[in-house]
Amino acid sequence: MKRYVLFSVLLAIFFSACIEAEQLQVKTEEASAGLPMQIVLTWQQDPSTTMTITWRADGPDENPILRFADDPEARSRRWTAVTAHSFTFDETEALLHTVELTGLEPDMEYYVVIENPFFPESFSFRTLPAHSDEREIVFLAGGDSRSRRDVRREMNRMATSENPDFIIFAGDYISGPLSEREWDEWFDDWHELLITEEGRRIPIITAIGNHEVHGGFFQTPDKAPYFYNRFISPQPRNYYALELTPDLVLITLDSDHTMGVPEQVQWLEKTLAKNHDKKWKLVQYHVAAWPSVRNMNDTIPRMIREHWVPLFEKYNVNLVIEAHDHAFKKTVPIRDNQRDDEHGVIYIGDGGWGAPIRQTKDPAMHWWLDEAFAADHFWKLTLSKDATHLRVEPVFRPPARSFVLGAE
Ligand SMILES: [Fe+2]
Repeated sequence: MKRYVLFSVLLAIFFSACIEAEQLQVKTEEASAGLPMQIVLTWQQDPSTTMTITWRADGPDENPILRFADDPEARSRRWTAVTAHSFTFDETEALLHTVELTGLEPDMEYYVVIENPFFPESFSFRTLPAHSDEREIVFLAGGDSRSRRDVRREMNRMATSENPDFIIFAGDYISGPLSEREWDEWFDDWHELLITEEGRRIPIITAIGNHEVHGGFFQTPDKAPYFYNRFISPQPRNYYALELTPDLVLITLDSDHTMGVPEQVQWLEKTLAKNHDKKWKLVQYHVAAWPSVRNMNDTIPRMIREHWVPLFEKYNVNLVIEAHDHAFKKTVPIRDNQRDDEHGVIYIGDGGWGAPIRQTKDPAMHWWLDEAFAADHFWKLTLSKDATHLRVEPVFRPPARSFVLGAE
C-alpha cells in the first residue's frame, strides 16, 4: 500500500512538472514570437533630421509602437509614440516593421524603445550635424562580408570599436541572394554587434552587389527581394545621393546588378552638377573599375570607366569606394586613363569584411595600383571639424589574436 501511495505522489509530481514545462514553453514561444530583433538603421532623407529604423518581429501583432525621446530619463509624456508599418514579401517568412522618424534635431542622441510585452527593446541613435564646424565626422567604408561568418563578426566588432557615425557598405553582404538563413545570420550579427557599449546603434548606407541579386548581373530589382525589402534606403534604392553634411555628399551607384551602368549616367551627371560646390564628393558602388584582382577588361569595369569615370573626373570627385575583388587596394590618382598626382581621382577597395580574401596583382606591374595585397580590412574616414581635411586610413584585421600563457 505504502508503495502505491508513493507511486501516486511521484506520478502527480511528474504530471504537474509536465504541465508547468508546457506552460513555460507556451510563454516562451509567445514572448519570442513578438521579440524585436535584427534592427537596422538606414536613411531615406536628411541624416541630420531623420532616421529609418527597421526590424523583424514574427509575432501575431502588426503595427507595433516605437517610442523615442531625446532624454532617456524623460517623463512618459515627453516620449513620442510612432506606429510602425508592418510588411513582408514573398520570399521570406519574416514579418518586418519599419518607421521613419522625421523632424529630429541635428547632432542629437535619441533614445528608442520598441514596445513588446515581454522584451521591450531599447537603444539610442545619433543624427548628423546640420552645420560645418560642429565636430569631426567619423565613418567606415567596406564591402564583401559574405561567407566567413567568424571573420565578419570580428570585423563587426572592430567597426563598432571605432565608434563611427555611420558605415557605408559597397555590396555583397551574403553569398546566397535568396538564402533566408544567410540573411538572418547577417542581420543577427549586425543587431548584436553594431551597437556601442553605451547602446548606440550605427546606421548603414548600402550599395547593391552581385550576391544580393538572383543572377548577379544585368537583372532587375525584383531579383533582389531581400536587399530591397530589408534595407530601406532613398528611392530608387539602388542609386541615390545623400547629403551627409553641408560639405559632404555620398553618391551610391548600382554596378549593373539591377540597373545598367549607362542608364545611370544622366542622373549621375545631374547629381554631380547639383553638388559641384560641395567640398567633398564621394562615390560608392560594388564592381571595381580599377580592379586589384580581376581582369580590368571585363565588361563591367570597362563600362564604368567608359560611362562614369569621365564624370568623376569632370566634377572632381574626391574619392571612390569599390569592392568585389576581396583584397586591400588603393590606386594612384587617376585622370584621363593615366596617373595624375595633381588632379587624379583615388579609388579604394576592394572589399574584405569577411569574404574569402584573394591574392592581388603586383602593383609594380600595374600602373593604376599604388598598393594592393590580400587582407581583411575596412577603411576609416575622418572629416575634420572644419571640413578642410578628410583622413582616409585602412583598418586591418590583425593576423592573429592575442592570447595569454600561464595564470594571470
Ligand atoms: Fe561581388
